[in-house]
Amino acid sequence: MTKTFFIETWGCQMNDLDSQRLSGSLKLRGYRRVESEGEADLILLNTCSIRDKSEQKVFSHLGRLRELKSEREELKIGVCGCVAQQEGEAILHRAPWVDFVMGPGNVGHLDQILSGGRKVAIDFPDDRNYDYLTVDRPSGTKAQVTIIEGCNKNCTFCIVPTTRGREVSRPFDDVLREVQAAVASGRVEIELLGQTVNAYRCPVTGCDFGALLSAVAEIDNVARLRFMTSHPAEVNDSMIAAMRGHENISRYLHLPVQSGSSKILRRMKRLYTREHYLETIGRIREAIPEIHFSTDVIVGFPGETEEDFEQTLSLIAEVRYGSMFAFKYSPRPGTPALKIGAPVDDVIASERLNRVFDLHERIKRETLDSYRGRILDVLVEGPSKHDATMLTGRTDDNVVVNFRTDSSPLPGSMLGVRIEQARHHTLRGEAVA
Ligand code: SAH
Ligand code: F3S
Repeated sequence: MTKTFFIETWGCQMNDLDSQRLSGSLKLRGYRRVESEGEADLILLNTCSIRDKSEQKVFSHLGRLRELKSEREELKIGVCGCVAQQEGEAILHRAPWVDFVMGPGNVGHLDQILSGGRKVAIDFPDDRNYDYLTVDRPSGTKAQVTIIEGCNKNCTFCIVPTTRGREVSRPFDDVLREVQAAVASGRVEIELLGQTVNAYRCPVTGCDFGALLSAVAEIDNVARLRFMTSHPAEVNDSMIAAMRGHENISRYLHLPVQSGSSKILRRMKRLYTREHYLETIGRIREAIPEIHFSTDVIVGFPGETEEDFEQTLSLIAEVRYGSMFAFKYSPRPGTPALKIGAPVDDVIASERLNRVFDLHERIKRETLDSYRGRILDVLVEGPSKHDATMLTGRTDDNVVVNFRTDSSPLPGSMLGVRIEQARHHTLRGEAVA
């Protein structure tokens, strides 16, 4: 009888992609994917430890799996991802019903772990075994492709350098081959992934991120090219020139700022000041006037005063981000920020977070309203989930558009859509001939 598996995924795009790789390699071994834990012979939890809350979710989930395991001794449970890397063997002590613990460096070595009985695999092998032809991609029109793993930046608040290891770029030709294969299978939207994509350096030729971007953009039939995350201190002319020179590169750039106060940025070790960040935004806007930005913000970092926080608000208002993620600072084990001081009082931090959300909601509203009457390029994904008479797709700045059309455009095609209505977070319109 074929074996079955279930994967639960938390966290960032890197984790999503790792789950797609794990799933692909299990299918290759003859496993069948199931959508409920009760039916599975193997349960993988691909975990996130970026904030305390994400980590707690994992342990409460593990608590619920205990019963399942006691009912079915042959069930195997594996903890993967960043909590696995961070806690290692301790997970087996805390939850002895777990069969193995496997960090992000070992995604390509699942086979060995399943067959060889290695219980704790949290090293970063030189050979990451990037098995791209078997990635089990959930979308028929979009593919995510890793270009760089790990992070060397060591922001003082961040656990990622511990859980994902030192930076390792994939060879240029490997990336191109993977993109070509993805496009050949209909995935015309490509998203290049890494914690700091613009620190990319080909280990064979030494060429940089700008060169890679251009080469990928020039592959036949790449309709839209995205990438994340870019580090503000690594934005350079080669990257900007590549974006400017290729219309299929999205005019939407995720550039996490974290704080608008230079004092806090220094404490975070972000390697740029407020002025430097705004100057970078200005340089990109000058080269590509139609560009939009998105960002990540942390509130309540140790030492953040009301004045520092207001600088974050004013920076958000100045850049007018199309979308943003904002978080309350969460102290992480072993990170340098622990020594800087106590986080801001939780009530104050929550209130700051709400002020960020309110401001951004207003900016977002104004941006979506300004799209009314305009014709936007929409990459078609398929029928709308909520209304069978409509199709759905996304704009270049990643906003969902539901639209009517008389023709039957295929998923993956690009269409002009006249925007009629801006809803809460989506747009509505009609395709133009
Ligand atoms: N490599 C990316 C982001 C990695 S983590 C970068 O360069 O920014 C994604 C986001 O989580 C970060 O941008 C940050 O805003 C948030 N984050 C990371 N550590 C955090 C912590 N300890 N507390 C709260 N938010 C955190
Ligand atoms: Fe984390 Fe900073 Fe790297 S946020 S992922 S250490 S760039």
